[in-house]
Amino acid sequence: MTRALDKVVLPDADGLRRAAEILRAGSVVAFPTETVYGLGADAFSAQAVAEVYRLKNRPSWNPLIVHVADLAAARALAHVWPDGADALAARFWPGPLTLVVERARHLTQVGAPNATIAVRVPAHDVALRLLAASGLPLAAPSANRSEGISPTTAEHVLRSLPDVPLVLDGGPAAWGIESTVLDLTTPVPTLLRPGALALRPLREVTGEIALPDAVADGTARPSPGMSRRHYAPKATVLLMDDVKAVDRSGLAAPVTVLSYESAGDYDAAEILSADPREYAADLYAALHRLDDAGAGTIIVRTPPDTEDWLAVQDRLNRAAR
Ligand code: TXA
Ligand code: MG
Repeated sequence: MTRALDKVVLPDADGLRRAAEILRAGSVVAFPTETVYGLGADAFSAQAVAEVYRLKNRPSWNPLIVHVADLAAARALAHVWPDGADALAARFWPGPLTLVVERARHLTQVGAPNATIAVRVPAHDVALRLLAASGLPLAAPSANRSEGISPTTAEHVLRSLPDVPLVLDGGPAAWGIESTVLDLTTPVPTLLRPGALALRPLREVTGEIALPDAVADGTARPSPGMSRRHYAPKATVLLMDDVKAVDRSGLAAPVTVLSYESAGDYDAAEILSADPREYAADLYAALHRLDDAGAGTIIVRTPPDTEDWLAVQDRLNRAAR
């Protein structure tokens, strides 16, 4: 336990120096972003990227988002910087928006063998300082085992990835849900993953956004990473419209509940905000708590069927499969 805790360090000058050294040596470091914690690696080191896939047990077809310090660094990764990308970057970077663009020809793939690259500038002081200290573009998926619940604290990271060499502890993540992924290689920008940044502010900049049915109902895989089962706790997750009327016979005990309104009598309950942004910020931490409490079943109140809840709907649908 002491050994494990030694891996969690404060993001002070010493912590950042250690982290940058590990990254430059071709290994990996977990670090906070405004969305969730990331497992960072030198994006163009085959060895470092391979280590990310190994630690996460991530399928090789699922590519990684590259984190950079600023717009100029993002443009340097692109073959063509699409119309509209500057306006999006000016409005939302640093922030929870990932843009998929054509990859500069001289760069290697970051994961899947396609000709594109996903890039974002994170809005977190520690992430930005780590980018500066390492001088590297950092590939960083969420710092959890593949298909598990994303980490919103350093402790979540350590529990999911006990073999991680180092975790920079930046406290709880502010957004608590992953970035919105937007593909700019299509004639109309295409939403690949709903996330922290809602569609309404995005549309104010881009106009129309194509929304594959699969994003809305979680049935297909519009983005390589959108496998159907994902973001899943150990407990069985069931989505219900009326959590007070659930027949619990045959459900694995303890039967617990996650809702945004009163839920009746369960073995354990997590009642989150009825505001979608606040709910999203607490969602993963609540799922982690129910898992830690040994929940056999988590009954989840189906979220409202409005666009503001798209990212939460998506994650819960995948958790429930
Ligand atoms: O908020 C976030 O985005 C967090 C923090 C750490 O930045 N990262 C994150 O990474 O959620 P990850 O690996 O868990 O999810 C990356 C998503 C996946 O759905 C992946 O398929 C997609 O981005 N992606 C990455 N590169 C892509 C590409 N070239 N084309 C299409 N989708 C891509
Ligand atoms: Mg992830």
